[in-house]
Amino acid sequence: MAGSLLHSFATSFSSCSSSSSSRLLLSHSPPSLFFTRFRGAAAVAVPGVRFSRVLASSSSSSSSRSPLCYRRGQRRHMAHSIARATLGLTQPNAVDVPKIAFAAKEIDAVEWKGDLLAVGVTEKDMAKDESSKFDNSLLKKLDSQLGGLLSEASSEEDFTGKAGQSMVLRLPGMSSKRIGLIGLGQSSSTTFAFRGFGEAFAAAAKSTQANSAAVTLATTSSISNESKLSTASAIASGTVLGLYEDTRYKSEGKKPVLKSVDFIGLGSGAEIEKKLKYAEDVSTAVIFGKELVNSPANVLTPVVLAEEASKIASTYSDVFTATILDAEKCEELKMGSYLGVAAASANPPRFIHLCYKPSSGPVKTKLALVGKGLTFDSGGYNIKTGAGCSIELMKFDMGGSAAVLGAAKAIGQVKPPGVEVHFIVAACENMISGTGMRPGDVVTASNGKTIEVNNTDAEGRLTLADALVYACNQGVDKIIDLATLTGACVVALGPSIAGVFTPSDDLAKEVSTAAEASGEKFWRMPLEESYWESMKSGVADMVNTGGRQGGSITAALFLKQFVDEKVQWMHIDMAGPVWNDKKRAATGFGIGTLVEWVLLNSSS
Ligand code: BES
Ligand code: MN
Ligand code: ZN
Repeated sequence: MAGSLLHSFATSFSSCSSSSSSRLLLSHSPPSLFFTRFRGAAAVAVPGVRFSRVLASSSSSSSSRSPLCYRRGQRRHMAHSIARATLGLTQPNAVDVPKIAFAAKEIDAVEWKGDLLAVGVTEKDMAKDESSKFDNSLLKKLDSQLGGLLSEASSEEDFTGKAGQSMVLRLPGMSSKRIGLIGLGQSSSTTFAFRGFGEAFAAAAKSTQANSAAVTLATTSSISNESKLSTASAIASGTVLGLYEDTRYKSEGKKPVLKSVDFIGLGSGAEIEKKLKYAEDVSTAVIFGKELVNSPANVLTPVVLAEEASKIASTYSDVFTATILDAEKCEELKMGSYLGVAAASANPPRFIHLCYKPSSGPVKTKLALVGKGLTFDSGGYNIKTGAGCSIELMKFDMGGSAAVLGAAKAIGQVKPPGVEVHFIVAACENMISGTGMRPGDVVTASNGKTIEVNNTDAEGRLTLADALVYACNQGVDKIIDLATLTGACVVALGPSIAGVFTPSDDLAKEVSTAAEASGEKFWRMPLEESYWESMKSGVADMVNTGGRQGGSITAALFLKQFVDEKVQWMHIDMAGPVWNDKKRAATGFGIGTLVEWVLLNSSS
């Protein structure tokens, strides 16, 4: 389909401003040939009035607040939608994202004044000589100031510098109120390790109620200038994210007290300040992403997700435009695969498209980020049952879209030159009702391909099919899609590593470079074409699920059917890393890597 045709849809189409969304919720669309069973819920709110492209200015009032914080009564609802919109009467509290002032200083750590001086130590740094004195010069200096108490306490508390280990002492006679040793493990050269260190530092600051803190490393001499920058930035991200707790849905929140963090011995000046600002921008975006995923499905509906996307566009209206399509428009675009998934839900779908263009200079590369946006996945008629199916966690099935919108927020803040980025989410809810898709139904995607739905629980790929076709129509050079797509990928790679599928070695390299910088974990998986055999249908072009074997591979092969061969494409299955079981919370996975990847493709 021609780009110009899409453009005309986009510019003429209505979107959901906070006041029009409730009316859109109630409208009824006529049945169509493509979707005779679809209970499309959208139409232009006021006949004759078209709400054009979105929204750059329509919802700015709450744009500076943390996401999903609405004042009650801000949106109007008509009779039967009230029950839906206020399901359980839950509204998130407005909680401010903690703001920490980071600074980089070249001073003597021993002279630093404040509440907590934290020293990062490796196991090697903890080595002592025959008379139990530290070999490391900073530790030696601190220890002698403390009359040997540091070496004594570390032995008594069996502190050896293992990753995550920490020890905090409150001693008189120092300019810092407390001294903390925080373990970095055997060697600590990775971004991942320093992020973990930042989290342990945040925990120490939290438990000692520190207002002001400083971080330094026992050994900085061996670190190159470039790694000092990335080390400081990784520690800063770990600190912000470690400090943050999502209390929006608790009746009582906690306020973090840490206000300032000084980095000592990692350089000073414009370069490091810029890097710390970048870390802060990305961390704020990661928190936004976490909040989207943590939000329950009765609050974060597809309409609300689209409103959050529109808010990004209005906050950064110098570089963003937003286009939100309702079911009727998606029907015009023949997105039968996506609409089939949305068909059972009382919450109408929203197709979200944000476009980032730098405000000046030529565009070299066009990118698209496509995210799976299932605000809830019940499985549909193939309902999720039985132990371990995790149906109660399926609010996280929009983790891909949270990564994409989180990246959009960071990109709006960083404003990289020379690159255009499309952020695309086909948001909907996979439910059960008389209007819903049946197992065995055949749906038709917007590229004309037909799909026999042999399992309604393989819904993510059905929504992504139309989103990928739409992304290709934007004339982009490269696409990355992210999705909590298969349990099989979690079985293969466990909870903290995402699966990467791409026919392009170049793109694989780019993302691996980006991931090294962000500290997130990915593993490339094979796109084994011979497995396509199991995806053949007797009645349609394909089925939507193969067997149990190689389930994440056949899912990726399915997505490939909807991508233009001229476009470099990668699929990321993040079903494992989206959620931290131990913390019972979202991770914000993907955002850091996506932003690094966009910067890699920019001319900055
Ligand atoms: N959202 C799930 C995938 C998922 C499962 C994510 C568990 C995180 C944890 C997806 O829509 C799904 O249900 N996939 C099915 C596919 C199957 C029917 C081929 C699965 O993985 O079981
Ligand atoms: Mn599913
Ligand atoms: Zn799903």
